[in-house]
Amino acid sequence: MNVLVTGGAGFIGRWVVKKLLDGKHRVWVIDDFSNGSEENIAEFLQNDDFRGLVVAGVEDSKAVNELFYKNKFDVCIHAAAQINVQESIDFPQKSFDSNILGTFNVLEAARKTNCKVVVIGTCMVYDLSSGTPISEKHEFKALSPYAASKIAAEAMAEAYFHSFGLPVVILRPFNTFGPFQKSNMEGGVVSIFVQRKLNGETIEIFGSGNQTRDLLFVEDCAEFIVEAAFSEKAVGQVLNAGTGKDISINDLAFLIVKDKSRVRHVKHHHPQAEINKLVCDYSKAKKVLGWKPKTKLEEGLAKTEQWLKQQKVKK
Ligand SMILES: NC(=O)c1ccc[n+]([C@@H]2O[C@H](COP(=O)([O-])OP(=O)(O)OC[C@H]3O[C@@H](n4cnc5c(N)ncnc54)[C@H](O)[C@@H]3O)[C@@H](O)[C@H]2O)c1
Repeated sequence: MNVLVTGGAGFIGRWVVKKLLDGKHRVWVIDDFSNGSEENIAEFLQNDDFRGLVVAGVEDSKAVNELFYKNKFDVCIHAAAQINVQESIDFPQKSFDSNILGTFNVLEAARKTNCKVVVIGTCMVYDLSSGTPISEKHEFKALSPYAASKIAAEAMAEAYFHSFGLPVVILRPFNTFGPFQKSNMEGGVVSIFVQRKLNGETIEIFGSGNQTRDLLFVEDCAEFIVEAAFSEKAVGQVLNAGTGKDISINDLAFLIVKDKSRVRHVKHHHPQAEINKLVCDYSKAKKVLGWKPKTKLEEGLAKTEQWLKQQKVKK
């Protein structure tokens, strides 16, 4: 298959690219490097099946159209997005341009060239939950411009499925972690905590730390995305992916540093955009795709730590 991965030079995107190349698919990437880098995909550039890298924003309709018209893609895995919640509060225009306009451009180009689209959504679209696992039927709440932009992107994709019969799949991974995730505010909680541990620094927790996350290892996430991309049964469906187990941020910090004196609580930057309890019901993905996560949290943490250590040595 010919597959375009938008945001393919980012954290999840590069693992999706790897999985596709391992499966002998031909891969193209469009990424503006706003939060990804060529370094993330350097190991794939010499692979004969890696067919092209376009450095451009998906909000640039000319670049997106040219790419779709020039190559005959069977599937576009649309992972490009502005992902930082705080940045979306500070600069909502960026969320609008990248996540809403960008998704519209991808859908339009896919419609004109008859290409299936897999939209990578997020669990951050969901409303607060009492603690029961969140299924795809759970209500939405736009707690931040980031969440709002992802809801809008999904809605537009759904409209293209119903209005034009465009084959569309919407995926909502829960918090994903692992090697290649940034360990600054553009990254994720696991990488940030592990990096601070390696630096000998105190781990800072925003707010009470009682908020919980369902942490999905990135290779499981990439497998979920690629399986959904090639599944006929997934077309027109929305699918969650997570582990079905959550951990509080306090417990996560302790699991990483194993020393309470190396953890402190600080004022939350955006308490209004915080979701307190996030645990995934992935039974639909299991039923539709036969997918389930394979990596235990401790195993994923060890792989993340090992990778971050290697990055330190490289510097
Ligand atoms: N990391 C998570 O926990 C998580 C969980 C659920 C969903 N997601 C979703 O998965 C996708 C990938 O997230 P990630 O964690 O890998 O983030 P990331 O920032 O590492 O990856 C996004 C990539 O898209 C690129 N990009 C951003 N704006 C762009 C634009 N306008 N045009 C072209 N490229 C652009 C960035 O440079 C980056 O390489 C996003 O859609 C995100 O919403 C992430």
